[in-house]
Amino acid sequence: MPAFSERLQKIKPTIFSHMTNLANQHGAINLSQGFPDFDGPDFIKNAAIEAIRGDKNQYAPSAGIQELREAIVDKYKRFYGLEYDSAKEVTVVSGATEAIFSTMFALLNPGDEVILFEPCYDAYLALCHFTGAVPKFIRLHSPNFAFNLEDLKNAMTSRTKCLVINTPHNPSGKLFSKKELEDIGKLSMDNDCFIITDEVYEHITYEKNHVPMATFPRFRDHVITISSTAKTFSFTGWKIGYLLAPEDISKQIRLVHQFVTFSTATPLQHAMIEAFRAPSSYYDALKSDYWKKRDLLGSILQEAGFKTILPEGSYYIVTDISEFTTMNDLEFCEFLIKDVGVAAIPMSPFYCEESSITNLVRFCFAKQDDVLINAGRRLKSLREKLNS
Ligand SMILES: Cc1ncc(COP(=O)(O)O)c(C=O)c1O
Repeated sequence: MPAFSERLQKIKPTIFSHMTNLANQHGAINLSQGFPDFDGPDFIKNAAIEAIRGDKNQYAPSAGIQELREAIVDKYKRFYGLEYDSAKEVTVVSGATEAIFSTMFALLNPGDEVILFEPCYDAYLALCHFTGAVPKFIRLHSPNFAFNLEDLKNAMTSRTKCLVINTPHNPSGKLFSKKELEDIGKLSMDNDCFIITDEVYEHITYEKNHVPMATFPRFRDHVITISSTAKTFSFTGWKIGYLLAPEDISKQIRLVHQFVTFSTATPLQHAMIEAFRAPSSYYDALKSDYWKKRDLLGSILQEAGFKTILPEGSYYIVTDISEFTTMNDLEFCEFLIKDVGVAAIPMSPFYCEESSITNLVRFCFAKQDDVLINAGRRLKSLREKLNS
């Protein structure tokens, strides 16, 4: 057989597949993968059904249905006071993942350097490898996942082409502060770098509000904002994402997008027009429902003996396992599935060197309350099982 692409040499199956397969084998309650086990609202489902019945089933325009792009622009104005041109600066794509792919392919040449903050969502590194660009990592230090500005200054070189930030951050739940965003923005401007910002959890925040990178007028021309309807409307399987960027950048990204997927499912785009028109009460309920779930899982984990790091945003809780076990994170998660019946995600695969941080484990609380409560019942046996 001929050889496969060398591009794949650095790519492995995701840790999510491994943990989910193991969870299924052992009948464990799956708090590992980052999606809700409940559907989004009926009015969005009904709008999709109506669009399918109304014969809206052929290719959409490559950049997205104009009415949806207008609804996205309205949302950015309503929530953040940002102005975008729906025709030239907004592109609808098949999920935030495609947005990151198309953006990286539009911006990066082999050998360009990309700054990633670790732990980082695993797609960034894989996609960076696909382009032939070189990742450089800045560590976010637990428990508050702050970074050292000197590390960032030192990592930037004349080859640095872009930075990828993710706020609210998966897996840590960190919200980048205004000051941190400003520091990152200033350094990016000094080095003439693009800033890719993944804000898919923008509406799932708690004590503090999300600050989009694009709200700093000085940086806006260099910022590509990526988001998705997956988390905001709880339809992760629909894969409707979008990106906002100045016209010249959007034009280049659209050149990639047209040959990746060309366009995104037409009836689902129609449904998302209705979704974006949802009143503020929809967003308030999303936040307060997740807030209750965060506190519920937080207390369950604390009762079971975990040291928890409650998130400022997103729907994950990070725990530090070092106080009650000598197992590393992967061993612990496998034990947790097999012996306790609960699945979580080890965080070492989110670091460039997997052996560097092995004491952190992530639990997802985008689950129905009875699922979280059942997981809590099982976790009551954790200490006993660890000691046996
Ligand atoms: C930080 C982050 N970005 C992007 C995605 C993927 O978004 P989508 O399903 O819209 O591709 C996820 C999904 O978990 C995520 O956590």
